Amino acid sequence: MNRAWWKEAVVYQVYWRSFKDSDGDGMGDLRGVMEKLDYIASLGVDVIWLNPCYTSPDVDNGYDISDYYTIMKKAGTMSDLEALITAAHERGLKLILDLVVNHTSDQHAWFKESRSSRTNEKADWYIWQDGVKGTPPNNWRSYFAPSPWAWDETREQYYFHSFASEQPDLNWEHPAVREAVYSMMRWWANKGIDGFRMDVINLIKKRATYDDVADPLDLSYLGNQPGIHELLQEMHREVLAGTDLFTVGEIPFVGPEDGLLYVGEERNELRTLFHFEVADDMETMDLPRFKQIQKRWYEALYPSGIASQFLNNHDHTRQVTRFGSERYRVESAKLLGLMLHTLPGIPYIYQGEEIGMTGIRFSDPESYRDVAFRNQYAERIAAGESPGTVLSSMQLRARDNSRTPMQWNTGKAAGFTIGTPWMAVNPNYREINVEAAEQDPNSVLAFYRKLIDLRKTHPVMVYGIYRDLAIQDPYLYVYERVLDGVTWRVVLNVHDEPVTTTFGLPEEQLILTNYDTADINRLAPYEARLYQYEMP
Ligand code: NOJ
Repeated sequence: MNRAWWKEAVVYQVYWRSFKDSDGDGMGDLRGVMEKLDYIASLGVDVIWLNPCYTSPDVDNGYDISDYYTIMKKAGTMSDLEALITAAHERGLKLILDLVVNHTSDQHAWFKESRSSRTNEKADWYIWQDGVKGTPPNNWRSYFAPSPWAWDETREQYYFHSFASEQPDLNWEHPAVREAVYSMMRWWANKGIDGFRMDVINLIKKRATYDDVADPLDLSYLGNQPGIHELLQEMHREVLAGTDLFTVGEIPFVGPEDGLLYVGEERNELRTLFHFEVADDMETMDLPRFKQIQKRWYEALYPSGIASQFLNNHDHTRQVTRFGSERYRVESAKLLGLMLHTLPGIPYIYQGEEIGMTGIRFSDPESYRDVAFRNQYAERIAAGESPGTVLSSMQLRARDNSRTPMQWNTGKAAGFTIGTPWMAVNPNYREINVEAAEQDPNSVLAFYRKLIDLRKTHPVMVYGIYRDLAIQDPYLYVYERVLDGVTWRVVLNVHDEPVTTTFGLPEEQLILTNYDTADINRLAPYEARLYQYEMP
């Protein structure tokens, strides 16, 4: 595999509204990120991914943008962002922004104009269809609503929205739309940002026709459609070619068969991608299936493409709660961290993961702030389901699960704000917080710092070939990465009972473990070991 800085990078995701509040209004902001920049740098990560901070009515926490060129007041000002870019660069950190161009806010000037008549200059900048009021053009669903079609009284037409009705989809068939997006991207690149995390970027190409589908609940008709690669290649030519910008595409509905089309080095599309075979499709840890996913993606992509490794973000429940164990919180947080940093792919750390933060379950539906949760909850209640059943079935996967404020210390609101936090702080902050972790040499935080450092100093973790040694085992995950005669062996007990194994190696070869004592043939619950050996 060709070497490149971005393949060796570790990315840290900052969900700024829950990271650090600098002015006491209860919501995190860019100055808060600035205050904690030295902390981020101290982790050893290379890239910060900042969730959207553009002007937005904030219906979907910034993913409904009404002006791509200004900053949301809640987040701060353009000078705050400029200062952050500069300060990040001074610390050797790169900063990438979210690029949300499948849709805008319904408050964007483009949409306001588009909906004003059927004949205005931007009439076709969005996707409009005739229909009869009350009867949407087809039987599709949107991610956040029963139908992706919303009726507009002025045009007496429906517009299309893959997400909430306040997030109308842009019409990428229109050359002026594409040019408007490309020039906006160039403008940001000129400002000094280092790349883009591209929100649902494979949804920008729509199906050729809007016919009914056999199974509306299988949303795969929304993305990954023929013609998407021509669009991404055009974007590459127009904006990315000849730059060093880092790009990661959020690509739902893609399997390894198509993955290389997006990230193959010869393709000139994206550098890397997020797929959702785990985060969307695997409810809790199913190890045999997880191994198959890793193997299939590795075999499909390497050596000419590289995927990303993540188990949680602002849309997905915290990984300890969902894929590890709250009972073995510290052990499983370390195990999952070790796994993500040693599997093939670029690791992403979602703020708070590095201290083993857990997900929250609110007992009152009103505490959930997320538009996806609220819409789905209302829909199910309206359909006659009981509130208790609906709530308990939605708790584990609710997106707010991972959006609670970062836990800095044992002070008021976990040191996140001196005001009232916009979302409740997880009460376990008295035990789980950065300050406590800094004082404990065995903390999850200390372990993450070691992992990131190892990744920096050992190319085998990035470029080594991958082989699975126990693919059928339901609890043990044993794999190796091999490069230039050096082999790293990872032995994980992904399970809350001890297991015996023949894959242990002598202690001299142990590089990192999450337990004090290593019995060569036996692994404790969620024990994780990293070994190194060299071929003679
Ligand atoms: C994916 C983002 O991560 C999510 O938070 C958002 O709601 C949707 N895309 C729509 O933009």
